[in-house]
Amino acid sequence: MQKVQAYIDNNKDRFLEELMVMLRIPSISADPKYKEDVAKNASFVAESLTKAGCAHVKIYPTKGHPIVYGEHIIDKKLPTVLVYGHYDVQPPDPMDLWDSPPFEPVIKKTKIHPKGAIFARGACDDKGQFFMHVKAFEAMVKTESLGCNVKFMIEGEEEIGSSNLGDFCSEYKDMLKCNVVLISDTSVIANDVPSITVGLRGLSYVEVEVTGPNKDLHSGVYGGAVANPLQVLSDMIASLKDKNKKITIPGFYDDVVVVSAKERKAMNMAPFNKDVYMKALGVKDTMGEKGYTVLEQTSIRPTLEINGMWGGYIGEGAKTVLPSKAYAKISMRLVPNQQSDKITKLFKKHFESIAPAGVTVKVTPHHGGEAAVTPSDTPEYMAAAQAMKTTYGKDPIPVRGGGSIPIVALFEKVLKVKTVLMGFGLDSDDIHSPNEHYGLFNFYKGIETIPYFFENYAQLKK
Ligand code: BES
Ligand code: MN
Ligand code: MN
Repeated sequence: MQKVQAYIDNNKDRFLEELMVMLRIPSISADPKYKEDVAKNASFVAESLTKAGCAHVKIYPTKGHPIVYGEHIIDKKLPTVLVYGHYDVQPPDPMDLWDSPPFEPVIKKTKIHPKGAIFARGACDDKGQFFMHVKAFEAMVKTESLGCNVKFMIEGEEEIGSSNLGDFCSEYKDMLKCNVVLISDTSVIANDVPSITVGLRGLSYVEVEVTGPNKDLHSGVYGGAVANPLQVLSDMIASLKDKNKKITIPGFYDDVVVVSAKERKAMNMAPFNKDVYMKALGVKDTMGEKGYTVLEQTSIRPTLEINGMWGGYIGEGAKTVLPSKAYAKISMRLVPNQQSDKITKLFKKHFESIAPAGVTVKVTPHHGGEAAVTPSDTPEYMAAAQAMKTTYGKDPIPVRGGGSIPIVALFEKVLKVKTVLMGFGLDSDDIHSPNEHYGLFNFYKGIETIPYFFENYAQLKK
C-alpha cells in the first residue's frame, strides 16, 4: 500500500489537471444541443481508462448517450468489482447565479474547504467522484498492487433517468458479471465525520398540464367566470398535502416499510444540528412531515416536491391575461417497497379525480426508479468501512440518503449483486445548483481510500 500512496502523492497535481480538462466539457445530457459534447466526454473517459492501464475499453452507443465500459481482469479466481459512475451533468442554469462560468473550473478556498475546492458543474456530481476511481486504479495498476479484477461502467444518462442502462445491463449481463458494485456518487456527513450511504430513495416524476379556456383571455372581460388554470393548478397542488404535511394521494403510503423505533433511534444519533442546517439554507424553520426529524424526513419518509410551475404571463411589467394553460413538474421521492410505476398511476388517478369541471388535466409520467437499501453486514460494506477507518481515522457511520440512483435497484435485480455507496462529497457541495464544487481534500481522500477498499475486499473474499 505504501507504493500506491507514494504513486498518488507523486502524481497528485497531474490528477487534478486531468480532472479540470474533463470539467471543461459541457456534457449536459438533458439538452440535445450538447449531444456532441456528451460524446466528447465519453471519449475522454475511454482514453483516461486506457491511459490508466485498463486493458479493454470500449464505447457502447445507445439510443441516447454512450456508455463507456472497460475491464481489467488479472485473475479469474479473484473477486471482481464493478465501478459505476456517470460523466453526464445537470444543466447549469440559472447561469447568472454562478460566480464563475460552470465549465471553466477554478479552485477557490471556502470555509468548509480551507484547502480549496474545484468550482464547476459536475465537479462533485459525478465527474470528480468517478475520476477518483480512475486515478486510484491507475495507482494500483502502475504499482502492481491491484488485488481484484475491475470493471468500469461509466454512463452518460444518469441525470436523465438512465433510460438505456437497464437494457444494456440485461444485454451484457455476462460481461458485467461481478461480485459487487462500487459507486462514489453520494456524500459523507462532514470531512471529519465519515459515513457510508446504506440506502437511496426511489423516484416518480410527472409533469402536469391544466387547460382551461381554449385560448388566452382578457382577465377583465372573462375573469370571475371562467376557470383560471393557474389558480386551479395551485389549488390542486395545495391539496396534495394536509396540515401535517402528509401526502393525501389515496394509497400513497400503503407499501411504505415502517422503520423500527430502534432503527430510528440509531439514525438520529448521527451528528446533526438543526440550527446550523437552517442557517446554512437561510431559512427560519423547517417544514416537513409531522412526527419525524429532519434526518428522517430526508431519508426514510417519502415526499412530494414541486420542481417547477409555470404558465400565463411572466415577462416584463404587467399583462392582464387569463391564461389557457398551466403546468407543473412534480417529483415524489419513494422509500423501500413503494413502486415507482404504482405511485405514478396513483398520482395520475388522483390528480385527474380532483380536477374541477372547468378544466381538463393531462398527467405525463417522466422517469422513475426504485429505492434501494444496501446492507451493512456484508464483506463489501466491511471493506469500505475499514478503508475509511484507515484514511479518516474514524469508523464511518451508516446513513440512508435522500437522493436517488435508480440503477442501484436494477443492478440488484438484473446482475443479482449488492452495491456499496462509498461517496466522498458533502451535502453542501451544491450539486445540481449554481456554484457546484468539490473539495480537494475530498478528491484526494477518495483516491487514497479506494485502494484500501480493493485490498480489504480481496482479503475478505479469500
Ligand atoms: N448523485 C446523485 C444522487 C445523490 C446525491 C444521492 C447525493 C445521494 C446524495 C445523482 O446524480 C442524482 O442526482 N440523481 C437524481 C435522480 C435521477 C433519476 C435524475 C436525483 O436524486 O434527483
Ligand atoms: Mn450523481
Ligand atoms: Mn445528480
